[in-house]
Amino acid sequence: MSPQIPTCQLGTQLLHGDHGPGSEVVPSISVTSTFRAVPHGDPEGLGAMNPEKHVYSRYSQNVTSRVEQILSKVNQGHAITYASGLAAAFSALVHFKPKRIAISGGYMGCHGAIATYIKGRFTDTPIISLDDEFQEGDLCWFESPLNPTGESRNIQYYADKIHAVGGKLLIDSTFGPPPLQYPFKWGADCIFHSGTKYFGGHSDLLCGIIIVKTEAEREQLWHDRVYMGNMMGSLESWLLLRSLRTMHLRIPRQSANGTEIAQWLNRAIVPEGQEYDGIPGGVITKVWHSSLQKPDANGFDPAVQMEGGFNACFSILLSKIEYAEKLAHSLEYFVPATSLGGVESSAEQRLNSDPKENPLLVRLSIGIEEVTDLKDDLRRALVEISKGN
Ligand SMILES: Cc1ncc(COP(=O)(O)O)c(C=O)c1O
Repeated sequence: MSPQIPTCQLGTQLLHGDHGPGSEVVPSISVTSTFRAVPHGDPEGLGAMNPEKHVYSRYSQNVTSRVEQILSKVNQGHAITYASGLAAAFSALVHFKPKRIAISGGYMGCHGAIATYIKGRFTDTPIISLDDEFQEGDLCWFESPLNPTGESRNIQYYADKIHAVGGKLLIDSTFGPPPLQYPFKWGADCIFHSGTKYFGGHSDLLCGIIIVKTEAEREQLWHDRVYMGNMMGSLESWLLLRSLRTMHLRIPRQSANGTEIAQWLNRAIVPEGQEYDGIPGGVITKVWHSSLQKPDANGFDPAVQMEGGFNACFSILLSKIEYAEKLAHSLEYFVPATSLGGVESSAEQRLNSDPKENPLLVRLSIGIEEVTDLKDDLRRALVEISKGN
């Protein structure tokens, strides 16, 4: 059984999990690339595991070490950061060296990172589906909740399936950051996040995060990072530390806002000529969200897996392509933009980022605004586009 996560301590860990020597409450941005050497060398070697022993900023530096201390504590694992989510994804592939990769759907950029990784190898790495039979050496690349729909998948089910043959499960938990879900509880071997989204939370940094269960695994990842040179930049580390201090306030608020809006929009799926709460019928044809999923045949209930609340990013399907093209640009408080997880709400016709996506699909990322204002904004925009404006 995996360790229990002390969710009640999250806020305190985010604020105090990096305390070390020195008098600065907020550390300065560490811009130095190199550090004064210790006379006669350092018998303990490089400073990977000791943030007090920095040598060169490709190995480690003060603010990144503070960030990684906090990320390790709040995920009850061993965390390492990267220059972006996809830099972390690539590093995870180098680390696991899978014989085959089982993946179905999810963020198209991770499929791109996998294709790039395979291109650089001499041997083929077949891609299979999550529902195929697994073999020893397989890596299950598992995303939950899914981008862009925001639907949850059963982590424990796929973890049991891959462990039965001696493979590993990596979860892309970008849509389910702490305190929403803790994938180690459900059998994940490795947790991956685009930290650009909810950890950063302010749409102002790129970052990737990998969390593993042992210090030995983290050390291997750190060693690879030294030689791939894909560490997070100094400014990004500082911005991320700033962001972590409020994560326990931002995420539950985004989750509550997102859940309320998803369920409200779902109730507005009514026939043309009718309306629900001022939203004209016949405009929205489908809403995906973890909170709208019914328990499946295996008894999987997303509410149990997402113990801290449902995802704040999800998708809706509109009845006409012109509605989907216009919605993001007809909203006042939602920014028409790609990406997600920021404190500000955003909307995107997903086709603009993923050419394979259904052109009727619009992804909504819900922020920390007042939920009544967001509903008013959506209602007004849906009325406008339904009139052909
Ligand atoms: C689910 C998911 N995984 C990975 C990534 C890649 O992260 P990044 O853009 O930080 O490289 C994204 C980015 O949108 C994402 O949504």
